[in-house]
Amino acid sequence: MAAPARPWQATVLTLYPEMFPGPLGAAIAGRALAEGRWACRTVNIRDHATDRHRSVDDTPAGGGPGMVLRADVVAAALDAAADDTPVLALTPRGAPLDQPRVRALAAGPGVTLLCGRFEGFDERLFARRAIEEVSIGDYILSGGEVAAMVLLDACVRLLPGVMGAAQSGDDESFESGLLEHPHYTRPALWEGLEIPEVLRSGDHAKIAAWRLERSRADTRLRRPDLWQRHPDAADRSPSGARYQKKEE
Ligand code: ADE
Repeated sequence: MAAPARPWQATVLTLYPEMFPGPLGAAIAGRALAEGRWACRTVNIRDHATDRHRSVDDTPAGGGPGMVLRADVVAAALDAAADDTPVLALTPRGAPLDQPRVRALAAGPGVTLLCGRFEGFDERLFARRAIEEVSIGDYILSGGEVAAMVLLDACVRLLPGVMGAAQSGDDESFESGLLEHPHYTRPALWEGLEIPEVLRSGDHAKIAAWRLERSRADTRLRRPDLWQRHPDAADRSPSGARYQKKEE
């Protein structure tokens, strides 16, 4: 497939522009970058500092440890970088990033990502600029850069022509709120373990039914939080009696 006229545009505002594209310059994302399916531009937040020390942060009002990124400097960087893409800040307090959000972002013109360091951003930044805060999980990274890479990787693989149709289809199942079924490949017998019989049966309807059932069972066991929200979870009790029976 030919590269699009206008690539999906990633703009990353960071104090460490040298970190990009980093790992996104290799493998699937790297090939897509070389093919012009997406573009990665960095903006060094420090270039928008106004004092002679080029300071981007200051001590927290009210005291306490660490430093806070200045609203005036970050806003200047954002205003200079502005295009038609949504602005997302990577912060541990943000809304958890999920596949539907990734898919929506991949379907748009691109993203502008704001990477924090230190204790975070001056809160007034969020009052004065349209910024969506997103988190990639309940743990604290040393900065938003690695989180930005995670978000970009998840989006870029969904861009047209980046992955084969077969692989992109896999996401639909995750998006439907279930974990994927387990996979097997040759050898048929390995360390005393066989590939489940049904997968060798050639009966595609039976295989599809088995996979769906495994997806449901695995989701209930491994991710009860996902299962509780799933329409198939007719039994929403934590014990999931409906599925308990099948595993016994
Ligand atoms: N910055 C620091 N920790 C983060 C997280 N868990 N998600 C997104 N950005 C972050």
